[in-house]
Amino acid sequence: MADTTRPLVAVIMGSKSDWEVMRTASDTLEDFAVPHENRVLSAHRTPELTAEFASQAEANGLEVIIAAAGGAAHLAGVIAAYTTLPVLGVPMESQSLKGLDSLLSTVQMPGGIPVGTLAIGKPGAKNAALLAIAILANHRAELREKLHRFRAEQKKKVMNETLP
Ligand code: RP5
Repeated sequence: MADTTRPLVAVIMGSKSDWEVMRTASDTLEDFAVPHENRVLSAHRTPELTAEFASQAEANGLEVIIAAAGGAAHLAGVIAAYTTLPVLGVPMESQSLKGLDSLLSTVQMPGGIPVGTLAIGKPGAKNAALLAIAILANHRAELREKLHRFRAEQKKKVMNETLP
């Protein structure tokens, strides 16, 4: 029987200071009852641990990795270098450049090692989770159904909105 508690998605962030934003990804996965793990791993502060995590991710049963970092944001790229699992990058808003630095350093991967990059900050965190769910849903009918329901509810909400 399949282990329903084994994490399918890892939400990795470069620093604990990213958690306030990245909890949006975790909460979204929670809403869809997707088993996941949240961890701080840094490409520059804990490079060996990051490499070890990414190298073993597939064998450990993970199917998608979400990686968030700010500034010279190389975390998603480094993780992608060690695994062929889909890696979704979320650029964190930075103080000095408002996340433009994070966005460019996450999105501009040279050809050969892909990182699917989402928007800066909370919208990116939410969409990374939804995209991870969509990837998992390719082979999980119950998740596909939940995604359809989520879209229908979103649509209903917009249609019921009134302006003052
Ligand atoms: C990156 O540097 C982290 O992902 C974070 O967004 C940024 C700042 O980290 P702290 O100095 O707050 O730990 O590695």
